[in-house]
Formats: sequence, C-alpha cells, structure tokens
Amino acid sequence: MGDRRRIVAGNWKMHGSLASARELAAALAGASHEAAGGLPEVIIFPPYPHLDAVRRVLDDAQSAAGIAVQLGAQDVSGHEQGAHTGQVSAGMLDDCGCSHVLVGHSERRSAFGESDELVARKFRRAADHGLIPVLCVGETLPEREAGQTGAVVLKQLGSVMKRCGAGAFERAVLAYEPVWAIGTGLSATPEQAQEVHALLRGEIARSNAKIAAGLRILYGGSVNGANAAPLFAQPDIDGGLVGGASLDAKDFLRIITAV
Ligand code: 13P
Repeated sequence: MGDRRRIVAGNWKMHGSLASARELAAALAGASHEAAGGLPEVIIFPPYPHLDAVRRVLDDAQSAAGIAVQLGAQDVSGHEQGAHTGQVSAGMLDDCGCSHVLVGHSERRSAFGESDELVARKFRRAADHGLIPVLCVGETLPEREAGQTGAVVLKQLGSVMKRCGAGAFERAVLAYEPVWAIGTGLSATPEQAQEVHALLRGEIARSNAKIAAGLRILYGGSVNGANAAPLFAQPDIDGGLVGGASLDAKDFLRIITAV
C-alpha cells in the first residue's frame, strides 16, 4: 500500500446557501479530533460563488487546533481566458485560494456533454496554474453490465495521459466514481472498487511505476460513515470523494475519522 496519505474530499455540488456554506466550513475547520497525526487530507469543493467566503472562514480557523481543510472548485474552464460567458478560469480559482479542482465529474460528462478531450484540456489548464486536478472517471450501469468497466475508465484516463503524460499524475489525484453508485445509496463493494483502482494504478505504472505508487486514488459513490472504513481498507483505495454525506458536518467527520 505504501505510505500514501489518505484524502477525504467533499463535493458539495449545487447545494446550500452562502450561510450554510460558511457554517459547514466553520464546523469542519473547528472540529476537534482525537486522531492526532493520523488524519487524512481534507478538501472541500463548494459552489463557485461560495469559494471566497469559505476560504475566509478556513483562513480564520487555521490558527485554531481544528482540522486543516483545503479548498477546491467543482469545475474549471478549458480556456485560459476570453469571451466564454459563464466559465471560470484556472487563474481565477487560484486567485480564490483553491488548491484543487475536480475535472471530468460524471455529472459534467453526462449533463454537459464533456468529452474526454475537453476533460484533458481542463486537466492541463488546471495543472499549468499550479492547481491539483482531481480527475474523475467511472462507468455507467449499462457499461458495467456489458463488461466494459475497464475499457471505459482506461479510455477516460488515457485521453489525459495522452495530452499531459504520466508525469502529470505526480501532482494530481484520481477518483473512481461509478456513475451507478453516485447519489443512489448503492455503493460499489470494496472488492468491486479495489479491482478498478488496481487497474488504474497498473495503467499508470506501465508508464511510471514511482508515480503510480505515490498516486492517491479516491473512491466516490454513496460513501457514508458506515461503508467508508471497509472501502478505505482496500490496498489501492486512498480515501473518498463524498457527495451527499459531505453536506452534514457530523456525517463528513465520521468519514474523516473512519480513515
Ligand atoms: P454521493 O456521495 O452523493 O453518491 O456523490 C458522489 C459524488 O459524485 C462525489 O463527487
């Protein structure tokens, strides 16, 4: 398993208000914890308009003995800047204090028609600005049932490797999120997830074994306080990308301490 530090990330999607975002960030950053030294990295992904306010809350809490929480955005433009109404550039996210950004979340791929090619451009743009891309891959239920899981996730990974090279994963995070497990309450089993995580790590290892050994691969899809521990116990699962359960400080903290 190596000594990869675990990550627990919370994707807030399009939920909440400015007030609830501030409250949730404060509850996380101010939470006292017993597991001194053993805590995972914690990253939250609020909606764009809440990033700056959440960053201030986190900055204020930083000196206290709470949990160090990093900030990320849920998406980024593939363009550097220009006439792209509604889009947000990597430079703007950097200005807002983001350290991470999700690219290729399945909701972006399916609802907004993002291609593997566009996802790779977004990944590149984020990395060029010093942001850590969290690349999401995952298959739909029909794809799994047709035995195409491996081919689908390798194709999604492959387009980023082709554009950016395996070296780009030295400063990136990978997230396996089976589409059928997102928001359904039906998590992949630890064995199902481990199989795909091992496949993804093996693919990177074919290009660069050292980078593959250090790469954090998160599982996402109906992670909760009860199923987190057995999932995170798998040798190639390095933490979780959590949706619904990250919107409640108590639930999210239960997952953080399950690591
Ligand atoms: P849920 O945890 O709500 O299934 O969402 C997972 C997800 O999409 C995180 O990005």
